Amino acid sequence: MDSVGKIFAYHRLRFRDLLIWGFCLRECTRVKERSSRGRASPKSLRTRAVPSTPVLIPRSPKGAVPFSSNQSRCREPHPLLSNQNRGGHHLSLDYYKKTCPQFESTVRDAVFAKQSSVPATAPGVLRLFFHDCLIDGCDASILVSSNGYARGERDAVPNLSLSGDAFEIINKIKNSLELTCPGVVSCSDIMAEATRDLVKMVGGPYYKVLLGRKDSLVTNITKAAESLPEPEMPMDRIITKFTSRGFNIREMVALTGAHTIGFTHCNQFSHRIFNFSATSDVDPTLNPKLAAGLKRLCQNYTTDNGMSAFNDVRSPSKFDNAYFQNILRGLGLLTSDHALSVDPRTRPIVEIYARNQTAFFVDFAAAMEKVSVLNVKTGRKGEIRDRCDQFNHIPM
Ligand code: HEM
Repeated sequence: MDSVGKIFAYHRLRFRDLLIWGFCLRECTRVKERSSRGRASPKSLRTRAVPSTPVLIPRSPKGAVPFSSNQSRCREPHPLLSNQNRGGHHLSLDYYKKTCPQFESTVRDAVFAKQSSVPATAPGVLRLFFHDCLIDGCDASILVSSNGYARGERDAVPNLSLSGDAFEIINKIKNSLELTCPGVVSCSDIMAEATRDLVKMVGGPYYKVLLGRKDSLVTNITKAAESLPEPEMPMDRIITKFTSRGFNIREMVALTGAHTIGFTHCNQFSHRIFNFSATSDVDPTLNPKLAAGLKRLCQNYTTDNGMSAFNDVRSPSKFDNAYFQNILRGLGLLTSDHALSVDPRTRPIVEIYARNQTAFFVDFAAAMEKVSVLNVKTGRKGEIRDRCDQFNHIPM
């Protein structure tokens, strides 16, 4: 029995199961697709729809909330913080200790409840946070709806498949905190904290989250398209997307281990399983049994664009190092996943993580701490938004 056969035998899985998973995923992805494009049920529309008027009406000015005299200040400035943040507006671990002591428990309880009922929440929020941070910093700019003046980064093509549930839970936490601590907690801090809690909840490593970010005053659709890596990019370009933001190749590989959870729409890898080349219908680097299962799963993907497959066929909902073992066996869905396993700059790191989950967790946690403070805005460079999906004032 080959290694894939063993995996499926061990887990008593057959490729028929892939179809069943696919069906289940199709159902939850439909919600995701609909809500992410604003064509959702009323519930999701609240989360994703472009508001018809509110952002066009200037609202009463509400300045950024200043530090209160008893607010906890940074005791140990994070080495990654830019100079702008060393000028008196530091992040700290206990930023809300006095101003909103229930911040941590509110986030934790809300994500626990959401993840328990919608398991796609953890990967959805993790990807949302990564995209927000890579595009001009962790400043919740990705949450802002497009309006009559400008199109927001959430409408950039790579962001159209972001999970509607992820937007929804961040908004829900914000609404709840506005009742208990009005005007105090930023949407960007909520995203950072919720991401860490969810990663831990699905089995990943714990890491510290510094707090005190302000929310952005702008959102830029063009920057979004420029900043994000895409699966068909050559490895050189993917690496540049990370190194230009201060991450080395090892950190890039560790972060991409996030593909151990969540799922991918068929249209992202369909060229690997249908009409791949003149000589082969299927990408020969893809494991043949997986390819056959995916072909069945995705057979109607052009008419049913919600069809998706789990990123990690072995332990789809568990944050572990199986992703690295998978890609070494041709079990990665995206071209970029496969590229990580063959490029001489990344393969040795993939092999380390495939053998040693602790090494992966240590590096992932450190890299996520670094992601979480990418170009954060503090002081007057940002604001505490009233609502995560709109600025407090119209940017003129
Ligand atoms: C190497 C560069 C990367 C590329 C090209 C890439 C691309 C993608 C694509 C195309 C998807 C599928 C989206 C869909 O069909 O819905 C995806 C899913 C995902 N990505 Fe990445 N990604 C990369 C790195 C990362 C990093 C660094 C993280 C987080 C730290 C991340 C987290 C995720 C997660 C959690 C999912 C599953 C989302 C869900 O289930 O809703 N990715 N990625």
